[in-house]
Amino acid sequence: MNSKKTVKELVQMRYSCRTYTDTPIEPAIKEKLIHEAAYPIKGLLGEYIRINLVESTDEDLSTGDALEYGFIKNARNFIVGIVQNSNRSYESYGYVIEDLVLKATALGLGTCWVGYFNPSFFSSIGLKENEISPAIVVTGHPATKRSFTDKFIHFAARASSRKKWNRLFFDGDLNTPLSPEIAGEYTEPLEMLRMAPSSGNSQPWIVLKEKEKPVFHFFMRVVNKNYHKRHLQNIDMGIGMCHFFLNARENKLDGEWTINNPPEISLPENLYYTASWNGKP
Ligand SMILES: Cc1cc2nc3c(=O)[nH]c(=O)nc-3n(C[C@H](O)[C@H](O)[C@H](O)COP(=O)(O)O)c2cc1C
Repeated sequence: MNSKKTVKELVQMRYSCRTYTDTPIEPAIKEKLIHEAAYPIKGLLGEYIRINLVESTDEDLSTGDALEYGFIKNARNFIVGIVQNSNRSYESYGYVIEDLVLKATALGLGTCWVGYFNPSFFSSIGLKENEISPAIVVTGHPATKRSFTDKFIHFAARASSRKKWNRLFFDGDLNTPLSPEIAGEYTEPLEMLRMAPSSGNSQPWIVLKEKEKPVFHFFMRVVNKNYHKRHLQNIDMGIGMCHFFLNARENKLDGEWTINNPPEISLPENLYYTASWNGKP
């Protein structure tokens, strides 16, 4: 990452910004973002991802065409990615685009993921048959510049809006909560995942650690049927995994993702296997 801030700091700084100023993104910052977007981290199955920065005109703004709902004020710049179809394309999309979200945060920009948008507004990106563009990210200058204390307070509020460890992370089986003591050096990557954004803050992540091994199985819990239908929860999974991975990588915890070694356990109806992190002991 091209910034002096750590992944942990960027995760703490990021929040869903829903009011932007009229100030255009300065060419130098835009240039940096475009540069970052040109070299995305790989999708979970090595899918290619193309990322576009789309800027709306004043006329577009007055018609408010880009977004389905008007909760976001002055949305002028959009990160719109395209991912090749695969059986993990939604997860890969979240995984790769969230990396850029954190890079945008490092550049001082605000961001907000948007699952309910108008695809025809972005038809210029030229989607091919084997590609999808399942969500976008609004970016730009936040209307209110937050002081450090402000950011800290906001982060504390966000932390309390997240599910507790005992509802997300498990040790050996899905009835035994994982404690930070047992998670050890993986405590921070898991905490970064916990702070990730998710559609409607639904936090669909369930992580099961194998006993005595740095192997973590990631599952998606269907929390909201509407979000699930639009695959937003699959995107949420990828976003959480991105936070986990970037922090693990920064902390020199070696490992790799696989998607074909689910643990042999019986799963409750609303739980779906996504991927496993195979950490090197
Ligand atoms: C895939 C995805 C889709 C989202 N869609 C919307 C949206 O359509 N409108 C919106 O205002 N926020 C949207 N959000 C933002 C979430 O509501 C937000 O991340 C969550 O409430 C947590 O708050 P935080 O991002 O400030 O930590 C979306 C988030 C994700 C990850």
